Amino acid sequence: MTRNELKAIAISMLDRAYCPYSHFPVGAALECSDGTVFTGCNIENAAYSPTICAERTAVVKAVSEGHRDFVRIVVAGRSKDPCVPCAVCRQVLREFAPNIEIICLNSDGAEVVYTLPELLPHSFGPEFLGL
Ligand code: THU
Repeated sequence: MTRNELKAIAISMLDRAYCPYSHFPVGAALECSDGTVFTGCNIENAAYSPTICAERTAVVKAVSEGHRDFVRIVVAGRSKDPCVPCAVCRQVLREFAPNIEIICLNSDGAEVVYTLPELLPHSFGPEFLGL
């Protein structure tokens, strides 16, 4: 899949976001090494804290379907600045893909690209526990 195709999928997920509290939709498209793509959107909750971000929605869908080898993720927002993953999502990505490429989009589709070590330096991961 091309980068532009993956970006288009993440942008299309903005319409699936359930965000009646923040009114801040986020879409994600997570690409695996075998080319499989898992999508995600943020899903908010009246109790607030059960809210799950778009990135984690995509990761839990992938892992629960037997995929753990992630190569890149597109995160799309409708903000002026490209939407970067929150700290919790960075840590969740770190578990499975310590060097994943993270492509962040703003409302115009303009991108900034990071690697996970740039967004989460000196990170804690499974190897600390001997795994
Ligand atoms: N959100 C995401 O889905 N991903 C991020 O990385 C940033 C924040 C969501 C959570 C919440 O539903 C809304 O954006 C506002 O924080």
